[in-house]
Amino acid sequence: MTNEKKFQIEEPKGKLAVLLPGLGAVSTTFIAGVLAIRNRLAKPIGSLTQMGTIRLGKRTEYRIPTIKEFVPLAGLEDLTFASWDIFEDDGYQAALKAGVLERGLLESVREELEAVKPMKAVFDQDYVKKLHGTCVKKGKTKMDLAEQLMEDISTAKSQAGASRAVMIWCASTETYLAPGSEHQDIDAFERGLKENASAIAPSMIYAYAAIQSGVPFANGAPNLTVDIPALTQLAQEKGIPIGGKDFKTGQTMMKTIISPGLKARMLGLNGWFSSNILGNRDGEVLDDPGSFKTKEESKLSVLEYILQPQLYPDLYGSFYHKVRINYYPPRGDNKEGWDNIDIFGWLGYPMQIKIDFLCRDSILAAPLVLDLALFYDLAQRVKFKGIQEWLSFYFKSPMSPEGIYPEHDLFIQLTKLKNTLRYLMGEEQITHLGDYVLDVDSSQEGEPAKD
Ligand SMILES: NC(=O)c1ccc[n+]([C@@H]2O[C@H](COP(=O)([O-])OP(=O)(O)OC[C@H]3O[C@@H](n4cnc5c(N)ncnc54)[C@H](O)[C@@H]3O)[C@@H](O)[C@H]2O)c1
Repeated sequence: MTNEKKFQIEEPKGKLAVLLPGLGAVSTTFIAGVLAIRNRLAKPIGSLTQMGTIRLGKRTEYRIPTIKEFVPLAGLEDLTFASWDIFEDDGYQAALKAGVLERGLLESVREELEAVKPMKAVFDQDYVKKLHGTCVKKGKTKMDLAEQLMEDISTAKSQAGASRAVMIWCASTETYLAPGSEHQDIDAFERGLKENASAIAPSMIYAYAAIQSGVPFANGAPNLTVDIPALTQLAQEKGIPIGGKDFKTGQTMMKTIISPGLKARMLGLNGWFSSNILGNRDGEVLDDPGSFKTKEESKLSVLEYILQPQLYPDLYGSFYHKVRINYYPPRGDNKEGWDNIDIFGWLGYPMQIKIDFLCRDSILAAPLVLDLALFYDLAQRVKFKGIQEWLSFYFKSPMSPEGIYPEHDLFIQLTKLKNTLRYLMGEEQITHLGDYVLDVDSSQEGEPAKD
């Protein structure tokens, strides 16, 4: 049984410009990957929009379309790419330097990658201490810089012949900033832009420019960026979807897979020690204590929210959680993440779990950039506005509306995402209540609920 379709969804006609602040490892792996997939050289492994399915109705109906058949998403052939960076390397050179993808694959899409020339960045070393670049905009005030970005957005769209755009922050992690008075409302924020307030980081200027240009904005790094009342209110007013923060890949993804399992079985936790070695530019940036603090905050909140110590004091009332990131150049983008998990079971008997995840950071992040670009564009066409909580699935530190705690459990996040798609398309939400159980209980009065 289906509901009436509740939303008029504008068809994804024409080109979609994907605007990427930062042309580093993640961005180039994403762009080169999309080009390779378009040329049928590889498969979009890791992308829910490209490979995922969605069950509709009861299990007996066997209606399981792919997500991209079910909801009107932009096709890969309609994506165009534009980027900003503080280095002048084009997409091909930047991908070579990032050292994630094999040279043979990069050669096969070289021309298209070379066509992605970075625009001058809005950058200030006060916010990313470890980088020095020259491809940087000049402006008297931060408001001037925001206006230059708005011009870039408009030029990038028209050069690509794109009717729509989305911006995904793939630039370096900025130093830690606590929310301050300039972030509280849009008047204070705009005053801060004109007066060069230090509380306004470059990523906030990009987010402001995107929202003012009618472009959805998602933040792949842990910076505060769009997670401030001034910009969430602006996004609401202008009708623009926004979200973040910090792509959920690697160690944190594993954490949000394993901890819900421990909790499901009511197994207790004494401690969780996570350590990483990585040697890419991201690792170098995170070697600075300010940038590391931003990342640490993002990584630490996960367990508290999933395990809910306030509801389960005997199991999770006093666990010790530590996260370390170590810059170790020989590994490049191929990170190694160790977890030591001290758990306890029946009668309090202790046990240990050890994880050694030899992962590839940007290989895990690239499909998330693709999904976010396509889903944020969908959200815009549905006229969703403000924080897109249904896309928490993609973030380590998901933004949530004031007064609502963020959802970190990967499986609840997936259910929420798929139920949002069902809701959009007028399909029933899945409750997993089966007919079999209801048949056994047929002496009960009333109409049985359907799966
Ligand atoms: N790879 C992952 O699994 C993963 C997971 C979560 C978050 N992230 C975040 O994604 C971001 C990108 O990661 P990466 O591995 O591609 O890093 P990277 O260092 O390879 O690329 C970042 C690029 O951003 C550029 N940059 C810095 N400040 C800029 C600015 N103000 N404007 C424009 N460009 C700027 C840098 O010059 C660099 O080329 C980082 O913030 C990282 O923490 C990555």
